[in-house]
Amino acid sequence: MSFNRYLITAALPYANGPVHIGHLAGCYLPADIYVRYQRAQKRDVKFVCGSDEHGVPITIRAMKEGITPQQVVDKYHAIIKESFEQMGISFDIYSRTSNKIHHETSQAFFTKLFNDGAFEVHESEQYFDEEKQMFLADRYIVGTCPVCSNDNAYGDQCEKCGSTLSPEQLINPHSALSNAIPVKKKTQHWYFPLNKYEDFLKEWIVEGKKNEWKSNVYGQCKSWLDSGLQPRAMTRDSNWGVPVPLPNAEGKVLYVWFDAPIGYISATKELTPMWSDYWQKEDTKLVHFIGKDNIVFHCIIFPAMLKAHGSYVLPENVPANEFLNIEGDKVSTSRNWAVWVHEYIKDFPEQQDLLRYVLCANAPETKDNDFTWKDFQTRVNSELSGNFGNFVNRAFVMMHKLCNGRVPVFHNDIINDIDKALITDIANAKTLVESAIENYKFRDALSEIMALSAKGNKYLQVNEPWNLVKTLADTPDNQKRIDNSIHLSLQLCANLAILINPILPFTAKKMCSMMKVVERMLDWENAGRVDLLKVNYPLRTPEILFPKIEDTQVAAQVEKLNANLVKSKVETTPAKQEEAPKAVEKKAEIQYDDFAKIELRVGTILHAEKVQKADKLLKLEIDLGYEKRTIVSGIALHFNPEDIIGKQVTVVANLAPRKMRGIESNGMILMAENKDGKLIFASPIEKADEGAEVK
Ligand code: MF3
Ligand code: ZN
Repeated sequence: MSFNRYLITAALPYANGPVHIGHLAGCYLPADIYVRYQRAQKRDVKFVCGSDEHGVPITIRAMKEGITPQQVVDKYHAIIKESFEQMGISFDIYSRTSNKIHHETSQAFFTKLFNDGAFEVHESEQYFDEEKQMFLADRYIVGTCPVCSNDNAYGDQCEKCGSTLSPEQLINPHSALSNAIPVKKKTQHWYFPLNKYEDFLKEWIVEGKKNEWKSNVYGQCKSWLDSGLQPRAMTRDSNWGVPVPLPNAEGKVLYVWFDAPIGYISATKELTPMWSDYWQKEDTKLVHFIGKDNIVFHCIIFPAMLKAHGSYVLPENVPANEFLNIEGDKVSTSRNWAVWVHEYIKDFPEQQDLLRYVLCANAPETKDNDFTWKDFQTRVNSELSGNFGNFVNRAFVMMHKLCNGRVPVFHNDIINDIDKALITDIANAKTLVESAIENYKFRDALSEIMALSAKGNKYLQVNEPWNLVKTLADTPDNQKRIDNSIHLSLQLCANLAILINPILPFTAKKMCSMMKVVERMLDWENAGRVDLLKVNYPLRTPEILFPKIEDTQVAAQVEKLNANLVKSKVETTPAKQEEAPKAVEKKAEIQYDDFAKIELRVGTILHAEKVQKADKLLKLEIDLGYEKRTIVSGIALHFNPEDIIGKQVTVVANLAPRKMRGIESNGMILMAENKDGKLIFASPIEKADEGAEVK
């Protein structure tokens, strides 16, 4: 399939707080890189986003701050929009869902589905506050946690002990609005029967996307589809949101996950009168960039809605990223454990590309990753400055010293293998970077570019123009070698600018000014060429592209994180609106035959000792009755070797042997991991015979 236009969306952030660098790394930076690359390819591309301004978190934030929901979204919409602009996230439009055009678009969408008979009406009982005369979302019900006795637990979660709750489990439940005791009251809602779209989704995803989508995305979808889909309410009782466009629907609004993705459509409408080309023509490539907690909404629910509507294209791909942790801990907006983008910009003015570099080099593309300020420093100093910045600087400095500040001529008559190899490397880099970006592998793209600049450094090192000049009087031919090495180095600089432009646009722009070329040179078609800078053209003196990050800056940032950390035990701001329900955490169903392949047996630990230079590993000797086994296990942080001798454990007895730290491990022991991460022996309470099979 060839595409004639691209529509790229990035998840609409909730306007109930600023954005942090995890948001950038997970969604907005990769989207921006992809879009900038497509623009450099001169493809027809639109990049849309906006604030997600409905839903319970916003009303709660309003209640806490004593302002209206509209004031909340006005405040955070402005902050978020500015953060994106300053980081160079180049949306064609950054809209918002409280706009009139969005209300109209999402209502029209709902009405179309309603008229087509796509909804089912169901009645259910919901908690109601008789004093305030309104239905209460679970978050609005507070009471005592049955697990830890915290008096301020919410109806969906206790933030002190982390338990997931339902309002029924709370002791002394009362309304957060009036303190009244909530009563159950019947209410009607419009449900979208996702179950009816199972066949369509299976065909589209399981048969169509298995090899195209990232495995984390495909895997979540598969597990959802395997566990069966249920009808889902698409309306809520609330006074904040898009009103349900039906008579007798007083006090009801569209479910935020119904209206928000339609925000992509509204934003496109606001952007261009040609919006329908992007949404309704089959030769559009629609790509949703999101974080992993949004997968089910973008891969299952929204596509089913689009399918039901009938006249929209479906996403080609949904390249969701995992999460970025900070200094070894999960980001928590309520504990204020986060690096806020607007703060970064204040602390590192004009240094957007340093953060873009680190977030791309360390992007959580296949697993959760960790951001640390130390790593930020190392990457900036040794990779970005030490490799890329250093090469560009050397090429320019030597051109000024040895070639009168002009691009020297390239003498074809003395071209050698080293020159030829570099020319090939430059051509190859274009292809490699291109295919990495097309396949959403932005880390790989960046590492190819860094590898190319490392080759540039090596090329200069081998040629040593600074030494050739010393013997110039005796060997006048040296000038030719000097010219060639500097000529090619400068052409490589031009190529680096083109390749790095989608990732580090501020840097590419600076390089254009140093090379005195217009930004049109950055068009992708120019990559791979070694005639970009004209012979004899005078270039500027180099700017230092990247500053060095000092230890004191690292220390200050770490200190700031710790100082901001909210130490109070009870969290003060609402958690996320609605995480993808827990089904996704489960593993896919297996058949009895799969289970029967595993041989589980009871063993007794005869001996245990630490494995040298591996703080997590213990070497165990286990008695299975019919034989003794050596098993290496990663439990050393949890137990002293002497404390576990004599304990019984369940052993996976037929696991293929594996070498760990030079020791062959023959099997695996099973432990249970408690909520707090502590391991316990989940072994038989009564003593079993060694070697007894567990089934
Ligand atoms: N606001 C949601 C979040 O931050 C994302 C909404 S994406 C959209 O998780 F598709 F619904 F817009
Ligand atoms: Zn609790």
